[in-house]
Amino acid sequence: MKVLVLNGPNLNMLGIREPELYGKGTYNDLVNFIRYAARELDLNVEVFQSNSEGELVTAIQNALGKFDGIVINAAAYTHTSVAILDALKAVGLPTAEVHLTDIHSREPFRQLSYVGMYARKTVCGKGFDGYRECLIWLKETIK
Ligand code: DQA
Repeated sequence: MKVLVLNGPNLNMLGIREPELYGKGTYNDLVNFIRYAARELDLNVEVFQSNSEGELVTAIQNALGKFDGIVINAAAYTHTSVAILDALKAVGLPTAEVHLTDIHSREPFRQLSYVGMYARKTVCGKGFDGYRECLIWLKETIK
């Protein structure tokens, strides 16, 4: 089972960026966490981060035929990107949405999630652990 984990803009700044919100773990720590969790679950995982909406759209399109599912933290694009929503719909792969913080208890502009209009599972507010929860859900869903 192959899973693509996508991380959107500014997640490469983890550890530096608003640590009181996002924690002190770096992006590299997050990638190691995801790889470890995937190994434990016997999943093949590829992790990709981009600050560019178009690159994320292309990564989703390229997942067709190569991956069995997607975990996505589209970061700020969650709340703005119809293009990412359309790409997810076009590809049709089982998708779990993850956020480090609880977007529902934050600013009003974070309440809307375009990704959530397609993703059948959303985990937010659980930090790195949310990625593991999404991987577990995908494994159950795909089999
Ligand atoms: C985030 C929440 C988004 O609202 C924000 O723009 C991010 C990170 C999270 O993981 O909590 O960049 O997706």
